[in-house]
Amino acid sequence: MKSMRAYREHFPIFKNTVYINSCSYAALSLEVEGAFQRYLKDRHEVGADWIGWCDRLERVRSLFADLLSAKADEMAVTTSASASLSAISSSLDFSGKRKKIVTTDLAFPTEAQAWHALKKHGAEVVHVKETDGMIDLDDLDRLVDDETLLVAVPLVCYRNGALADIPAIRDIARKNGALILVDAYQGVGAVPIDVNEWKVDFIVGGSLKYLLSTAGVGFLYVREDLITKSEPTQTGWFAQEDIHAMLIHDNIPATNARRFEQGTPSVPNLYAVEAGLKLILEVGVENIREHVAALNERLKKGVQEIGGKLMSPMDPNKHGAMITVASTDEYALVAALAERNIIASCRDGNLRISAHFYNNNDDIDAVIGALKDNKNLLA
Ligand SMILES: Cc1ncc(COP(=O)(O)O)c(C=O)c1O
Repeated sequence: MKSMRAYREHFPIFKNTVYINSCSYAALSLEVEGAFQRYLKDRHEVGADWIGWCDRLERVRSLFADLLSAKADEMAVTTSASASLSAISSSLDFSGKRKKIVTTDLAFPTEAQAWHALKKHGAEVVHVKETDGMIDLDDLDRLVDDETLLVAVPLVCYRNGALADIPAIRDIARKNGALILVDAYQGVGAVPIDVNEWKVDFIVGGSLKYLLSTAGVGFLYVREDLITKSEPTQTGWFAQEDIHAMLIHDNIPATNARRFEQGTPSVPNLYAVEAGLKLILEVGVENIREHVAALNERLKKGVQEIGGKLMSPMDPNKHGAMITVASTDEYALVAALAERNIIASCRDGNLRISAHFYNNNDDIDAVIGALKDNKNLLA
């Protein structure tokens, strides 16, 4: 593996800016740019390369599996995290006594919306409250019972950066016989995930943040034993056991997680996603977590020294790659940083500063310096 400093050279945006916004969209690497160009070249040279595209889809599936230490057969390649959630939600059955879906007040909207949309099929949706910005495990324990079908949690909260204790949440779900789904989008690529340790049922995420590539490709992990027991009604020809059978008098879903897919894959984006995933796997998520943790310790200390209020937990084991700072006007603060060519983002009253392996101490010091000069915008 090269040094993180050498990898930074792969991201031209750092020539002119301090890009520290991977929670929103990753910086563009030369590898991902090259992959998009290769797609266009192939279109000129090969035209309609359906076999090649299907091979690429399978390569992307395997790379997603490697990232989560899952089996390729447990991965569906979708078009967004929302599409992954919809595929799962379309497979849930409310005919038995389990009608409750337990989500959280830290959910990304699309996750909670997927469950609320199921109320017309008899779902009862309840929200676990947050305490000190974290999922309140006592409240979770109180709400999950033998009528709970599914517990859904974000790995990292998009508003404040809080990192969920997945094994503790899983244990609460399991002791009540409920399924568990993790929305890993704000963590995947920056927080190590091993399905053999987590032992959860479903994981959803997408490619454009810490996975370095693009909108248009999401993923869904489904635990092996559940796959053939699940019958998604959100389906299509790419979900069939034989894609080329062209059945119109039946629906015969694949026996692997491909049954959660739908139509033609997002071909140009698969090129980019393959390049992004290869780069992440080459750098290594454990290494990324360690590198970003050191940057974030420097950032948290600096923010505290200038009197800023951290909205993400202080404990490095309780936040993801994103650190959040309370602001009196978060949009004005993002704009003030942008004037200094520092690119960050905001949500819900907080500035979001999200480093990746391509960031360095100079980036952190630039952010702290800009915050110091805009103290009037800190809450
Ligand atoms: C935690 C989380 N879940 C889901 C999404 C939505 O993903 P998509 O637009 O791919 O559906 C986002 C997007 O920011 C997110 O941060």
